[in-house]
Amino acid sequence: MELLPSAWVADISTVASVFDRIDVVRAPHVQGLRKLVQSDEVVLEARDIRKAFDTNTVLNGMSLRVERGELVSIIGPSGCGKSTFLRCLNLLEIPDGGQVRIEDVLVSRAGGERWTRADEKQAHLLRAHVGMVFQSFNLFPHYTVLQNAMLAPRVVRHVTSEAARETASQLLEKVGLGHMTDRYPQTLSGGQQQRAAIARALAMKPAVMLYDEPTSALDPEVSEEVLNVMRALDDDGMTQIVVTHDMRFARAASDRVLFVEGGVIVEAGPPEHIFSDPVDPRTRRFLRTIL
Ligand SMILES: Nc1ncnc2c1ncn2[C@@H]1O[C@H](COP(=O)(O)OP(=O)(O)OP(=O)(O)O)[C@@H](O)[C@H]1O
Ligand SMILES: [Mg+2]
Repeated sequence: MELLPSAWVADISTVASVFDRIDVVRAPHVQGLRKLVQSDEVVLEARDIRKAFDTNTVLNGMSLRVERGELVSIIGPSGCGKSTFLRCLNLLEIPDGGQVRIEDVLVSRAGGERWTRADEKQAHLLRAHVGMVFQSFNLFPHYTVLQNAMLAPRVVRHVTSEAARETASQLLEKVGLGHMTDRYPQTLSGGQQQRAAIARALAMKPAVMLYDEPTSALDPEVSEEVLNVMRALDDDGMTQIVVTHDMRFARAASDRVLFVEGGVIVEAGPPEHIFSDPVDPRTRRFLRTIL
C-alpha cells in the first residue's frame, strides 16, 4: 500500500480504536438475549462538559454515563449542541471544562487552561477507543472499500497487511459488502458507502462507536440498510451513541434516549418514557413539532 499524506494519518487516527472488547462481549444472535451482554460496567463517562464558541455558549454542562453494550440516541432541535457534544466525547472538539473518560483514559479540563502536548497525547489515547461515523461518510476516494478498511490498522497500529486484510474482509462481509471490496467509494450508493465507513471504523476495534446523523443524507429505504448494521452491532454487544433525527430508529432501537436543548440534557430515559410519557415540557414541545 502506498504511503499516505501525513494530514491523513492524523485524520485516520481520529477513527482509531481497539477491538478486543467486542469479542469479550459478543452476544448470541438472538434478539431477546441482547441484554445479557450489557453489564454495569461504565465504558464512557462524560462529566459537566462545557463548550463555547467565542461568546456562543453551546454546551452548558452535559454529563453522560454509558454502559458497555448500550445503544444511546441523542435527539433535539437543530443547533442545540448534539454534534458538538458528540465531538467533545471524542475530543475532536476540545471542551472548555469537564471530563471525558473512555475505558481507562481520562481527559480532564478545569476550565480556561491551555491545551498542552501532554493533553493531546492523552486525547490521542482516548480517541483510540472510539470509532466515529459521519453523515457524509468521509471515505478516502482513491482507495477501494477494502483499502479504506485496511488503512488505519496498517498506519496507526502497524498491523501486517495480511491481518488487516483479513479483518477488513470479515467486517465488510458483516456489513453486507463482501462482494464489493474492490469497488471505489464513488461507485457505491450512499447506504453502501456508509456501511463501508462503519466497517472502516470497526477495523480499529473500538470500545465505543459514535455516529453523527449516519442516515440523514440517505433515502429511507437505504437508511434501513445502515440502521440494520447498527442493530446487528448492538446485538453483538457494541456500545453505540447515535445523534439522530430518525425518531423511529431512536424509539425502536435505543436502550436510552437523551433529549438535548440549549446545551443541556433536558431529559433522558428509555425510549418508551421519552416518546410516550415525557415529563419535561420542552421534550413534549419538541416531540409535538416533529412527530
Ligand atoms: N466550529 C464551530 N465554530 C463556531 N460555532 C460552532 C462550531 N461548531 C458548532 N458551532 C455552533 O454551535 C451550535 C451547536 O451546533 P451543533 O452542530 O452542535 O448543533 P446540532 O445540535 O448538531 O444541530 P443539527 O441538528 O443542525 O446538526 C450552533 O450554534 C453552531 O453554529
Ligand atoms: Mg449536528
